[in-house]
Amino acid sequence: MKIRAAVLQEFAKPLVIEEVELAEPGPGEVLVRLVACGVCHTDMYTASGVDPSGYAPTVLGHEGAGVVERCGEGVSLLSEGDHVVTLFSPQCGECVHCLSPLTNLCLSIREQQNRGYLPDGTTRLSRGGEPLRHFMGTSTFAEYTVMPQIALARIDREAPLDRACLFACGLSTGLGAAIRTAAVRAGSSCVVFGAGMVGLGAVAGARLQGAERIICVDMSPERLELARGQGATDLLIGGEETVAQVLEMTGGFGADYTFEATGSVAVMRQAVESARMGWGLCTVCGVAGRGETLDVVPRLLITGRRVCGSSFGGLKGRDDVPALIRRYLAGEIDVDPFISHRLRLEEVNRGFELMEAQDGIRSVIAF
Ligand SMILES: NC(=O)c1ccc[n+]([C@@H]2O[C@H](COP(=O)([O-])OP(=O)(O)OC[C@H]3O[C@@H](n4cnc5c(N)ncnc54)[C@H](O)[C@@H]3O)[C@@H](O)[C@H]2O)c1
Ligand SMILES: [Zn+2]
Ligand SMILES: [Zn+2]
Repeated sequence: MKIRAAVLQEFAKPLVIEEVELAEPGPGEVLVRLVACGVCHTDMYTASGVDPSGYAPTVLGHEGAGVVERCGEGVSLLSEGDHVVTLFSPQCGECVHCLSPLTNLCLSIREQQNRGYLPDGTTRLSRGGEPLRHFMGTSTFAEYTVMPQIALARIDREAPLDRACLFACGLSTGLGAAIRTAAVRAGSSCVVFGAGMVGLGAVAGARLQGAERIICVDMSPERLELARGQGATDLLIGGEETVAQVLEMTGGFGADYTFEATGSVAVMRQAVESARMGWGLCTVCGVAGRGETLDVVPRLLITGRRVCGSSFGGLKGRDDVPALIRRYLAGEIDVDPFISHRLRLEEVNRGFELMEAQDGIRSVIAF
């Protein structure tokens, strides 16, 4: 079929909205009609050409939500008409990682996905007879996409898809970092560095876990106000003094849990240093620049601080994303303040501009 899609033709150039070919879903694959898609930093990062693992031409987009239109042969997990959120982090349910409760890093389609192919090593997307690669296994800046069934989370039909799409990446990453990776304990103290989509999700997750004190640190007063709305109890403008301020606010000890959601290695270091001696856990969510390293004084670790990373909030997507969306529907998570702009597919480049200007948290494309 012919579909309209936003194609990354050349790095560092605007995306081109054009008609491309999408082939029928193969075995184990599903055709999804997209209803909404968020515009995320990772799309812009890849489009800029700075990401060493990026490739072009490709159809970008990975924060999609839509409706199952057709199922390929042997599809057992989904049926026509199901509402779904796309998962760049799939859950096959069978690999050694899926079978372990200790990680969400499914191994089953990783290599092909990283190279821009569906699990069988081919593409369903093409243009003028030339194959077009799939981005993050999702390619959701398009009217339709074909994805493996293990990379789609079936969600409640009552969930509005233009809100549900945020659970495809940043929001779930932050929520999961607090709920799953760190498993914040009730009554504890938390510091969240960064009040973008990921950091705000971590603030909400810490609140849901019953944290007593949630300090949020960002450079933007407007974003800190959003953090207050998600449950932050204290707000700090970030800077050189941040660690000293956090220590002072926590009786000289530091916080039980700290979260980094900025992508800056200097802030990651602050997050480690703001964690409490004895048991403080620092969870790193941000993606650092190529070649950058995290500088930590080992003594901080010997005296009981721990550092861990979190990919997609440690969530096993097909199980955990529908559960988070049920919590959203139950009124426990306030999604609306994150949606700052609504765009048409033709305006996707405007979405990148808004992001660069830090204008709002998320632009959502409606199809
Ligand atoms: N681990 C994952 O699976 C995963 C998923 C999505 C995004 N990410 C990464 O998480 C990070 C955050 O993503 P986002 O979409 O929320 O980004 P964002 O740019 O919207 O938010 C980052 C925030 O950090 C703040 N900041 C910058 N310098 C700071 C400082 N010195 N102190 C305090 N705050 C500071 C900025 O003001 C901004 O609000 C990025 O690195 C992104 O690549 C990781
Ligand atoms: Zn993303
Ligand atoms: Zn797996």
